[in-house]
Amino acid sequence: MYKYINNVTNIAKEIMVKKIKLGNVVVDATVGNGHDTILLAELVGQEGKVYGFDIQETAINNTNQKIAENSLTERVYLIKDSHENIDQYISELVDLVIFNLGYLPGGSHDIVTKAESTVIALEKSLELLKDNGMLLITTYVGHNEGKIEDKRIKEYLLSLNQKKFNVLKYEFINQINNPPILYCVEKNKLIT
Ligand SMILES: C[S@@+](CC[C@H](N)C(=O)[O-])C[C@H]1O[C@@H](n2cnc3c(N)ncnc32)[C@H](O)[C@@H]1O
Repeated sequence: MYKYINNVTNIAKEIMVKKIKLGNVVVDATVGNGHDTILLAELVGQEGKVYGFDIQETAINNTNQKIAENSLTERVYLIKDSHENIDQYISELVDLVIFNLGYLPGGSHDIVTKAESTVIALEKSLELLKDNGMLLITTYVGHNEGKIEDKRIKEYLLSLNQKKFNVLKYEFINQINNPPILYCVEKNKLIT
């Protein structure tokens, strides 16, 4: 439990801790330095499964090493490919998908998530979610590419049927320098 509500990373973590149960199947759509992947692997336990995607070899290799050091290898499947191809690798329904967008901290700022592929990945992820499953998306509006990506994501999320999805936006409105934004999407059973 975090001490202060002062950044969206903590809020996303708190949601994952509350939401994820032992045995769940979850996806880290942007593995990066592997912090979320490790947390997810701990939360799903021995019977659970974590799929992780990243387009960068370094991200996959470094995270593989951390997973091995934490004896979590058997429940984690790391895939070096774009998350827009998620449907080619996952053929079961999942409980949660997390997207921490932008570039790899400490890595090249040229390798960054892009609006077009991100929205495709979001559409496919919503298809893969179980009823009551959840999507968490952190966008970084402090850089240009991130602003464009956030705008496209927001447009897409605004178009979702409210009977089928609960969509919540967490945004710090009094922090300087365009802090990241967190979107949380919960899939409902369709009530007709
Ligand atoms: C902000 S970092 C993720 C941080 C990570 N969640 C952590 O806990 O350390 C964003 C990552 O997205 C990756 N990425 C960029 N485009 C991608 C794509 N199309 N599919 C999957 N990963 C992508 C980058 O290589 C980078 O490692």
